[in-house]
Amino acid sequence: PAVEFGLDAPFTVEFHDAVESTNAVARERATDGASDLVVLADEQTGGRGRLDREWSSPPGGIWLSVLTRPAITPARAPLYTLAASVATARTAREAGVDARIKWPNDVVVPAGENGGYRKLAGVLTEMEGETDRVAWLAVGIGVNANIDANALPEGATTVRDEAADVDRRRFVQRLLEAFDDARTDLEAVVPAWRELALTLGQRVRVDRPAGAVVGEAVDITAAGALVIETDAGEERTTVTVSAGDCEH
Ligand code: BTN
Repeated sequence: PAVEFGLDAPFTVEFHDAVESTNAVARERATDGASDLVVLADEQTGGRGRLDREWSSPPGGIWLSVLTRPAITPARAPLYTLAASVATARTAREAGVDARIKWPNDVVVPAGENGGYRKLAGVLTEMEGETDRVAWLAVGIGVNANIDANALPEGATTVRDEAADVDRRRFVQRLLEAFDDARTDLEAVVPAWRELALTLGQRVRVDRPAGAVVGEAVDITAAGALVIETDAGEERTTVTVSAGDCEH
């Protein structure tokens, strides 16, 4: 059912107590022709993360998917995912959390020395389209909000543990407004992301299908790819990775 959200952004919000995955519901709505629709749930029974992982989604968190039909080519779709990370990190920072971004789009809080971190939120984008245009795009955002971190997998943190419980409706409003701002000015997304990045300057290991790349993360390109100076051999060479799983 649609709920009145008092949003300063052009989205309709559909709220559920529990669903398997808000991304799966968004995909169904896309088939029915919907757009600028937000599917929000209090709990997910089969939440999904990147790389086919499970995403633990108990009540108290913020689990939502934003379905849009942007007039962009699939090559620019990663910018939408980055826009979601930037919006999430900004909203968490407003809530008093030192949220940063770990490449490509994990929202984390620095922990310990040497670029360590705990994960606060994640983004999973699914889309359908042809080579020259996106038909629809569903950006799934999960924020560990009012949950005890010890109820979540190892390495996770929550807004509750980093700051204090938040008004989730207010958090969702701010998040959707920040996402709407970011998507309407895509050129500003990478610079904003670079400012929030925890990854730059760190020693990283990125696993990708073509093999792992190990070295120092030195830059992020305009398209959002990570530039790594590898330390194989005497001469430092640079490798640009556009997708993969990054550890530091
Ligand atoms: C990741 O970091 O692996 C991405 C996690 C994305 C989780 C969100 S919660 C809302 C939406 N529905 C899902 O099943 N997944 C995304």
